[in-house]
Amino acid sequence: MKKRIFSGAQPTGSLHIGNYLGALKNWVALQDEYEAFYCIVNLHAITLPQDPKTLRQKTLDLARIYLAAGVDPEKSTIFIQSDVPEHAELTWVLSCITRMGELERMTQFKDKGKGNTERAGVGLFTYPVLMAADILLYQTDLVPVGQDQKQHLELTRDLAERFNRDFGETFKIPEPYISKAGASIKSLQDPSKKMSKSDDNPNGSIFLLDDADTITKKIKRAVTDSGTAINFDEARPAIANLLSIYQLLTSKTPEECVAHFESKGYGQFKGELAEATTEFLRPFQERIREYDDTTLADILKCGAEKAKHTAAQTLQDVYERVGFRKNPIAKL
Ligand code: AMP
Ligand code: TRP
Repeated sequence: MKKRIFSGAQPTGSLHIGNYLGALKNWVALQDEYEAFYCIVNLHAITLPQDPKTLRQKTLDLARIYLAAGVDPEKSTIFIQSDVPEHAELTWVLSCITRMGELERMTQFKDKGKGNTERAGVGLFTYPVLMAADILLYQTDLVPVGQDQKQHLELTRDLAERFNRDFGETFKIPEPYISKAGASIKSLQDPSKKMSKSDDNPNGSIFLLDDADTITKKIKRAVTDSGTAINFDEARPAIANLLSIYQLLTSKTPEECVAHFESKGYGQFKGELAEATTEFLRPFQERIREYDDTTLADILKCGAEKAKHTAAQTLQDVYERVGFRKNPIAKL
């Protein structure tokens, strides 16, 4: 039996190379070795206000991005979260064993609530429980994510252990998979912040759908550090970040990259980085339109059916353990 992985991204904003290098790249690399479920987490998206028409469009766009990045529907299950209602149902049960204090400690809530937690939606507060449900429904072994999700993974493990202890062995305890390289790509405008979809300044991020001109401009404007060396030095985070992006996109080793730029200046470095980024994104962007709408709809329907099959099994076990009777009108 292959081990299982689960991961997801929200259909909001525009995906950037941080999302690709921190998450999607690993999804693609892992899909041969694991049985993979890749979800478009639209229930998560509505924790902040969304325009319904845009959300609907972004949901399909994100499915295309998964496919263009190399997620293969023959190998992996790609589906939309709202097509499998078990996600919302398990969230309720898990909410009842989650402590307020645990959620109050979540740094992403504090960040996204922008300090004004009185006005933040309750969904934003309980969002990590939904994420735990996503993962636990599939008896997941491994969850490939960026560094920013580590705390949510720890909560997921705590909830699974608590449920297993109180109601009997039900959930597999998942492990995070955070690859060192790419786990946290920083903003081009401020290397102390992660590159983020919700950044108000678009110059901080290179989006997967940016054209060559835009990419070149953004990289030219990227902040650098004092000095001239081009190397991986934690004390010079702006250059280290740009060099990591170069390294990950070209698949060279860190030593090769440092040697390559040894006697070169920032101008030339930025020029080569812009070129490497454009070269990398061009074929990706061409693949975005690879599937027509009908084929895409079929892939997502088939994905939802496969996901539902596993999710319904787990939810039925959970309902039974907590003392709900077997649903007389359920199909399973
Ligand atoms: P999101 O777009 O927030 O749904 O995130 C999708 C995935 O991308 C998650 O696994 C995140 O951890 C990852 N991610 C988001 N921002 C970054 C970043 N700046 N560097 C590396 N990974 C990231
Ligand atoms: N919370 C994740 C993010 O914002 C997205 C996500 C939702 C997720 N459910 C998940 C990631 C389950 C991994 C597994 O990036």
